[in-house]
Amino acid sequence: MVISKSASRFRNNLCGMWNVELFHIPPSTFYFPQKNYPKKNIMDNTYHVQEKELIESDITTYLHRHETKDLLRFLTCGSVDDGKSTLIGRLLYDSHMIYEDQLEKIAKDSKVYGTTGEDFDPALLTDGLKAEREQGITIDVAYRYFSTDKRKFIIADCPGHEQYTRNMVTGASTCNLAVILIDARYGVITQTKRHSFICSLLGIKHVVVAVNKMDLVEWSKERYEEICADYNNFVSRLNFADIHFIPICALKGDNVVDVSKNMPWFDGSTFLHHIERVNISSDRNLVDMRFPVQYVIRPNLDFRGFSGTLASGVMRVGDEVMSLPSNQKSRIKAVYGADGEIDEACTPMAITVTLEDEIDVSRGNMLVPLKNVPKVGNEFEAMVVWMHEDLAKQGGSYLVKQTTSMVPGVLSNIRYKVDVNTMRKSDEPADQLGLNEIARVHVTLHRQIAFDPYDKNRDTGAFILVDRMTNATVGAGMIIDRVTSDASSSSPVSKNIVKSDSLVTAEERERLLGHKPKTIWLTGLSGSGKSTIAKALERKLVDMGRAAYILDGDNVRHGLNRDLGFSMEDRTENIRRIAEVARLMNEAGLIVITAFISPYRKDRAEAKEVVGDDKFMEVHVNADLKTCEQRDPKGLYKKARAGEIQQFTGISAPYETPVTPSVTVATDECSVEQCVDQIIAALK
Ligand code: ADX
Repeated sequence: MVISKSASRFRNNLCGMWNVELFHIPPSTFYFPQKNYPKKNIMDNTYHVQEKELIESDITTYLHRHETKDLLRFLTCGSVDDGKSTLIGRLLYDSHMIYEDQLEKIAKDSKVYGTTGEDFDPALLTDGLKAEREQGITIDVAYRYFSTDKRKFIIADCPGHEQYTRNMVTGASTCNLAVILIDARYGVITQTKRHSFICSLLGIKHVVVAVNKMDLVEWSKERYEEICADYNNFVSRLNFADIHFIPICALKGDNVVDVSKNMPWFDGSTFLHHIERVNISSDRNLVDMRFPVQYVIRPNLDFRGFSGTLASGVMRVGDEVMSLPSNQKSRIKAVYGADGEIDEACTPMAITVTLEDEIDVSRGNMLVPLKNVPKVGNEFEAMVVWMHEDLAKQGGSYLVKQTTSMVPGVLSNIRYKVDVNTMRKSDEPADQLGLNEIARVHVTLHRQIAFDPYDKNRDTGAFILVDRMTNATVGAGMIIDRVTSDASSSSPVSKNIVKSDSLVTAEERERLLGHKPKTIWLTGLSGSGKSTIAKALERKLVDMGRAAYILDGDNVRHGLNRDLGFSMEDRTENIRRIAEVARLMNEAGLIVITAFISPYRKDRAEAKEVVGDDKFMEVHVNADLKTCEQRDPKGLYKKARAGEIQQFTGISAPYETPVTPSVTVATDECSVEQCVDQIIAALK
């Protein structure tokens, strides 16, 4: 079976200007006409040979196998010359995924436009995008498809410039994995950080950092390791679950599909090997069942079915469900999939369900389990990417489309803009938003909807803003969990609350307890001895008749802070809450000892501000990383080294040493008693 030139061209046209459909291509389609092409013996590729045989003998099995293959969507991010097109071209070429007419054309084009002399230039395979860009046509996202025996892939190829942020957001919103390309000569640059930030914002959990053009740095292991360290350093602030580094040369094919002979020091997997195997099945949320109703099917009086795509979780016949926002309850009577009645369905299946009772369910409502419900409300906080030339204004009125509901709403507050290059709060005034700008906003709706935070559910936590006059999509938003994410705002969310003072003064409390309140803030690596010192210090202070109390990281994370993880944002929120609790305890007159890694200087400085300069005492509990790792009291370093714990302080997340602590206690040199005595001396 050979796809003729005209047939493949027709298929390309069908698939849109930039979409190159590359599924189902049998090996005989491939054609290598030029002697300058790297030689590839197609018959060596067992996958293609087996596929060809299967197509000829049993087309139904072939199609079924293809249909049930796992799908990985990934996004490639890089600046113009980082080698994005070359990498994709090389991937398609080396995995034998190119039409014969495309190859023929590249053979000609390589001589005229190529950057490789007469040799094959893989970048020309994906040059459609560049051509459109040069012509000034609106840039969209180019999707390319290919498959191997392990997986099907959809590559979203987005332009990298800041002015195309919205395109990147569109491409990233459905991807499981992001490929961040870094030119080995330049290392981590501002664009790398911006792309990584956007990918993290859009909820991508898996990252491949492809350090490209290794040939231009003499295949240097040191340079590669330096870049990996730089990247690890800044990325700890973002929310990725796994990051995989690969040194490559896309132009020559090193470590793309085939193992590089030029970098024998690298023993990790090649690019294709990694993307074929990276585990994305756990990304699917199978726990929180959410079924946004898209359509009510009522063919006759005896059947009332609710259709839609199961956004997350599993639906089984007999499960109890509740319809939101009406709160009416019922039980699932039947579930229908594409081929008829089934016992259960899981995300992302398109299904129809019927219920035991006639309850109030219509388009835009959501069916959820009784014991695991999303938030229901008419306002939420979100990060928004502005996608339109018309400015967003505070108080602007839009249609808010979330899952299957479309509700009028107002952009009631643009709280602050985010500088995408530094990933920090921007100092610019935030009364309006321009194209490609990202901001933290407050949205108020005309009626209630059911929603989850985006980082828990990419379907029920996402929304778009639609212009009410033109119907254009003007913004894309990710709902955030206000409880955990409001660390950066010092003012309360509600304007209608007023502080009141106690009738008991601080001096009275001081007289009552016989000492001044204090916050002794212990900071240091995990395993440095914070908890041990804190306990001994508390004991000694109480023995001395002082009202002292410990707030300890591991303990507080079981209660007050059990919703927090170890991303930079969560750690900041952890420390913010502890500082507030310490302040309250100090107001009650107590001496508070805190034992938290608190790795960021900025967070500790903010804690000092909250508690008050006069009461705050920073203690650096110091032991070098090697000692802490040897102690490893909870076995966590071992797990972190094995890659089982992400963003572990000292291993894959930074620790910023205090610059001017009140005391430094060296737990690898002094005994616990000596350390405690040093702190008490400093207190006095
Ligand atoms: S902090 O960074 O936010 O200040 P905190 O002190 O509350 O951290 O908690 C640190 C404790 O959590 C460590 O002592 C360790 O037992 C545990 N832990 C689990 N995962 C991590 C991680 N990724 N990084 C650091 N500590 C972790």
